[in-house]
Parts: sequence; structure tokens; C-alpha cells
Amino acid sequence: MRVSSEVCKDERSFPAELLGGVAAATRFPILPMPSLAFTPEVEAATAHLYERVAKVMPAIEWPFHAPYVKAINDAKRERNAVILAHNYQTPEIYHCVADCVGDSLQLAKLAAASDADIIVQGGVHFMAETSKLLNPEKIVLTPDVEAGCSLAESIAGADVRALRAEYPGVPIIAYVNTSAEVKAEADICCTSSNALRVVESFGAGKVIMLPDRYLAANVAAQTKVTIIAWRGACEVHERFTAQEILDYRADHPGLKVIAHPECPREVVDVSDFSGSTAAMIDYVRTKKPARVLLVTECSMADNVAAETTGTQFVRPCNFCPHMKRITLPKILDSLIHVREEVTVDPILAARARASVQRMIDLG
Ligand code: 13P
Ligand code: SF4
Repeated sequence: MRVSSEVCKDERSFPAELLGGVAAATRFPILPMPSLAFTPEVEAATAHLYERVAKVMPAIEWPFHAPYVKAINDAKRERNAVILAHNYQTPEIYHCVADCVGDSLQLAKLAAASDADIIVQGGVHFMAETSKLLNPEKIVLTPDVEAGCSLAESIAGADVRALRAEYPGVPIIAYVNTSAEVKAEADICCTSSNALRVVESFGAGKVIMLPDRYLAANVAAQTKVTIIAWRGACEVHERFTAQEILDYRADHPGLKVIAHPECPREVVDVSDFSGSTAAMIDYVRTKKPARVLLVTECSMADNVAAETTGTQFVRPCNFCPHMKRITLPKILDSLIHVREEVTVDPILAARARASVQRMIDLG
């Protein structure tokens, strides 16, 4: 994980009037649009960055990316901005312009520790919203407001209130892949890397865990706590099937299969390991399998393959259409115009932040 700015705040109380953000455009003048030609100067300035992706990107593609990479890195310095990128971002974003990369939990913690004036979220909307919750005084930008998530869209605050009325006294855990409105109604958040710990943290016999029915089933298989689930699903991970994994195993002897816990239970059952995107990357780094299948979003295998030697990556390619909305041209546009700013209603934000903070405080 690359981290450029690590200033941890002890104090998490911010004046409410800052929560909605002062209109970014009035605080930051628009930057001049840089030339986007692939000149010898651009080539020289970005050669070390191309080396990071050379294993997964043909040289013929680099002249299209390099001018944006240089312009974005220049604009970041000018703006005192950082780019937080999820592990599913494409290699030219993940390896060439991101300051910090990670899974949802790592990104939330890095957002809380950032000393930048502007955070550009290389990820989907709920991730940008989480960064804003943890940085109410900062400008948080999303390069594409349409970058959603099938899980976040599967449930609203009113659904959570109805569940609370139906199951009085049962703790409610909201996966971080939810809107601020849903987080505000929950008791605590979780991510794929700490879901089991959060479920068991209440010492209760029963909890509600929403909105991913597959994550809930995968956690339920590891605990005695009864989990009441919602009906949401990740449109990327639910497409994987156990038969597909068994076919890959038959075609590739010695294959290690590592699956994200948003996959259906039967897929995790035929895998060697299941964990968050960061845990999956750690598995490859530490176990160094000769052949591996990452049962998750497509770009992650590219990102790990770019920095790994001695491992053959077998690639089923399921793209997240929402993650793929974030591109270099849109990131540059965000930095030049300081748009689109993510804002959250201050009262809602205070309640949603408490759920995220309780999760972070669990350690
Ligand atoms: P991670 O927290 O494991 O990175 O997962 C986020 C996500 O959206 C997976 O689809
Ligand atoms: Fe949402 Fe699935 Fe895309 Fe992750 S991969 S952002 S859970 S739709």
C-alpha cells in the first residue's frame, strides 16, 4: 500500500457548518487545461511510471495515458490533493496517479488520516461519501457522480427503520457499501475485512447484517451468531459459479483459488481462501502461489500481476461497470475544475460518521 500523507487526527469533532462544505469552485480557481500531447518531455517524466504497469499494459497504449498521468500528478501538487484509489481501479490509475490504494477499510482509515486539502476518490460513490464523513472539513471529489454500486442501491434508510421495528433490540450492521442514509440508521459499519469481528463484537445471539446476502451467508458460516440478512447482492461477484471454479481447477492443475466474500457461498466453498481485496492481495504476496485465480473484479488481477513475479494469473474477467466509470480524463477534470464535490447533510453525516467511527474504533 502506498501512502503519501499520514497525519492522524485525534480530534474528530468538527463544526457542523463545515459539514456541507463551502462551494469548492469559489475556494479554488479553475486550473488552465494542460496540453495532452505525448511529447518527449512527457515521455521522460512518466517513464518510471510506465515501468510499474509494463507487465500488464502494451507499450503502444502508454502514449494515450502518459499525458493524463503527468497532468494529474502536476495538478495534485498544485491543489495539495491526494487520490485514494480502490484495488479495483485500472492499472494506470492504481499504479500511476494514486497516492494511497487499498480495500474499503484501508481507504476509510487513510481518508481519516489525510492532511490534503482535497481528496479525489478513485472508487464508487459510497467510498467518496465515506471519505467525506471522515473529513467533513475537506473537499472530497468524485470524478463521476454516476459511479454507484448494486449493493448500496439495494437498500434505503426506510428499509433499515422497518427492520429495526420488526426486530427490536437486534443490533444492525451496515456494510460500508451503503449510502450515508443507511449508515446513519445502523449501529455500526463493517467491511469485508472485519465483518466477522463486528458481528461478534456485540456478544449478541442475533444480529442484522445488511445489505449483502452473500457476505452475510459467508460470515454466518464462521460464527454461532444468527445473522438476519437483506436481499442485496454485488452484481459482479454474484455472477461467479462453483462450476466455473471447478472448470478452472480442472484446466489449471495446482491452481489456488481465492474468492471475495461477496461471492455466493458455494463459490467460497470451492475456494482455498476468502477475504477482502486487501487480504487477497496479501495472500498472493505472502504465499506466492505458482498459479492463482482471483475470484473478484477484473482489474485487481492486473494490479497485482503488474507488481508480481513468479505467479501465473488465471483471469475470469468480471468488470464492475461502476468502478470503470472512473478514468484518467475524469480525474483530471475533477482536479482542474474541483468537481464533483461530495456533500452530506450535516445531521445525517454526524449519525453516519458515528457508525463508521465505531467500526474504526474496533481496531
Ligand atoms: P473490499 O472492501 O474488500 O475492497 O470490497 C469492496 C467492494 O466493493 C468489493 O466489491
Ligand atoms: Fe459494488 Fe460490486 Fe462494484 Fe464492489 S464490485 S462497487 S460491491 S457493484
